[in-house]
Amino acid sequence: MTTKSDTSVKVIEVGPRDGLQNEPLPVPTEVKVAFIDALSEAGFPIIECTSFVSPAAVPQLADAEEVMRRIRRRAGTRYLVLVPNERGLERALAVGCDAVALFAAATEAFSQANLRASIADTLARYATVTVRAQAAGCWVRGYVSVAFHCPYSGPVAPEQAITVALRLLEFGCDELAIADTIGRATPDDVARLLEKLLREVPAERVAVHLHDTTGKALDNVAVALSAGIRAVDAALGGLGGCPFAPGAPGNLATEALLDFLDTLGYAHGIDRRALRDAWLTLQQGAPELVQRGAARASARSVDPTVAEELREGGA
Ligand code: COA
Ligand code: ZN
Repeated sequence: MTTKSDTSVKVIEVGPRDGLQNEPLPVPTEVKVAFIDALSEAGFPIIECTSFVSPAAVPQLADAEEVMRRIRRRAGTRYLVLVPNERGLERALAVGCDAVALFAAATEAFSQANLRASIADTLARYATVTVRAQAAGCWVRGYVSVAFHCPYSGPVAPEQAITVALRLLEFGCDELAIADTIGRATPDDVARLLEKLLREVPAERVAVHLHDTTGKALDNVAVALSAGIRAVDAALGGLGGCPFAPGAPGNLATEALLDFLDTLGYAHGIDRRALRDAWLTLQQGAPELVQRGAARASARSVDPTVAEELREGGA
């Protein structure tokens, strides 16, 4: 007998954060707010909205406070924000955030590039941040970045990523996100890591965050689903990448993920018409962004009407 959790998948929309953080052109704050509001209408259980990181490190998200002050919060959606340290948590709490994501790297080289600190120092910082965040009533997600491949140090042994993952859970993170930050994982890599990880961690506490560099993201989702994972990150239009991970192009596109889940018979609860409106909101507010390659290429399956509009626009 199947249960609801067997056949329904939590789709986490990370476009406003992972998507927009890597855009060379600034996206106006009001467009970000309208985009997030439109995504709320589509019914995502979690929307990753922005980052409370150093504005020098990620200038594209320097308006985090304003974005989080202005969005409309829908009951049933968590509005997740990234925090790299206590300063970030304080900024997030000051504007009413109640869901935060911490991000640790599986390799020393990526930790230094992304957080300018060793893995050990980052984790020590996060032990405190997690306690403080949960005391303030926050739900906490812990990312393990470059869990499969590092742009600086190459392939990552599963044990390396799992050690970091288990520390994040020890601190009390509610959910782990295992990230293929540069999109180089093969289905075998994903199977190997998950097989080991899920011996120690219940699948309900694990999400996968995949980039689609080599076109294997959906194959990797299939592996994760068959391992029992029911939480998958994606970004509308396949936007995104990480400015500190050379070679990280787009995230797995939300619309491609939804098509895939529909084909396999998994429920996801996302309203496609509202998703189309979210895409149009971004298209109208930041047309140059939407015309960019990655977004354009994967926009074709958002919705036939959108695909048509994109074609008409010369996309
Ligand atoms: N929010 C805003 N500003 C912050 C901050 C935060 N959370 N944390 C630090 N800063 C500021 C400091 O006040 C300081 O500012 P100043 O130069 O005007 O005095 C500056 O950033 C440097 O602070 P320091 O503590 O020395 O940090 P650092 O230079 O070692 O950088 C991080 C560490 C973590 C703050 C920075 O690397 C960062 O924000 N990384 C995020 C990267 C990211 O988002 N990657 C994408 C996600 S995958
Ligand atoms: Zn990512």
